[in-house]
Amino acid sequence: MATQYNVAVIGAGDMGGRHVAGWLASGHRVVSITDVDQERASALAASHEVQTTYVDYREAITGGDVDIVSIALPLAFHAPVTIFAAEQDKHVFCEKPLAHTMTEAKAMEAAVKRAGVLFGLGMQRNLAGGVGLLRQWAAEGRFGRPMIFNSDLLQEVRPKRVMHDRQGNGGPLMDAGCHYYLLWQTVFRSKPKNIYAQGRILATGRPEVAHFDQLAIDSAVVTVEYASGDLATMTVSWGLAEHFGMPTRPDRILGPKGGAEGNVQRQLTVYDGDQVETVEIEPTDLHAAEFAIFADAIANGGAPAYGFATGKEMLAFTNAIFRSIDSGRAVPVSYDF
Ligand SMILES: NC(=O)c1ccc[n+]([C@@H]2O[C@H](COP(=O)([O-])OP(=O)(O)OC[C@H]3O[C@@H](n4cnc5c(N)ncnc54)[C@H](O)[C@@H]3O)[C@@H](O)[C@H]2O)c1
Repeated sequence: MATQYNVAVIGAGDMGGRHVAGWLASGHRVVSITDVDQERASALAASHEVQTTYVDYREAITGGDVDIVSIALPLAFHAPVTIFAAEQDKHVFCEKPLAHTMTEAKAMEAAVKRAGVLFGLGMQRNLAGGVGLLRQWAAEGRFGRPMIFNSDLLQEVRPKRVMHDRQGNGGPLMDAGCHYYLLWQTVFRSKPKNIYAQGRILATGRPEVAHFDQLAIDSAVVTVEYASGDLATMTVSWGLAEHFGMPTRPDRILGPKGGAEGNVQRQLTVYDGDQVETVEIEPTDLHAAEFAIFADAIANGGAPAYGFATGKEMLAFTNAIFRSIDSGRAVPVSYDF
């Protein structure tokens, strides 16, 4: 039987809940749940029959028998909690994005390396069956080349307002842009070369976000040129009107020979010349899958699905988007880190 690990989940918000369920579904033990909001931690613990809760992540990591620290906290805490956990010789699984800055990312990586523990980055969406299919179809030449990939993300001002704090999660380009970065790169098998982006803040003046000193850019149009010559574009907004009803368009990939559109976790329609086929994607517990890969990597000396290399490239990508917005020009993506 596979080794069963003891996991301390830090953060009992939306992703914390998914971490707890995912670790349990992949056959591991959740030994404690931590949140500065004690009620949240207790409610999540009660719903999964976890006995121990903490409000201070340091106590959770040093107290009890913990093998893996599973971080589901806002971005600002990814670096300090990862570094503290590594210093206590714990393996670390942390939600995306990796960090706010490359300096933070490097400090996290150095701490993990010093401790000789394993680090995994939460990018479960990229394990969806539809991502693999698009990658396969692109490699088989079913779309031809160059390809153009469109992805949209449209939402009203986020109920979780910290998403709009420039110093907090950093807005959709920082928080959600990394999913598209990884999706596009996986399908193209190529890295972003140049980026042109324009950003706006649509939520200015909205009372829900009035308490932040600095609002994050909540809306943008981003165009990315890949080394392969393929292109990707994203229209993103988290600054739309309350109860905004316009549906987000499905992901769409086009090429000279064909294309595909849909949701990589549910259903894809592929256009192959004049043939049209709809493919259902088998639903999978993506969190359980990414945790199983991570645990197996610890047990057998393998690699997690995603780690520092992916996290730093993502940061290079989002940094380039912000540089382009600030300068009003197209900028190269710098992988010099
Ligand atoms: N992989 C994905 O698909 C995906 C999806 C959504 C969010 N995320 C990422 O997950 C992370 C958490 O997002 P979320 O949606 O769960 O946020 P959330 O606001 O729902 O939950 C965060 C929780 O952390 C707690 N918290 C804040 N600071 C703390 C601290 N110092 N110590 C202990 N608890 C603390 C808060 O009280 C809150 O309960 C973010 O990095 C986000 O980008 C990933």
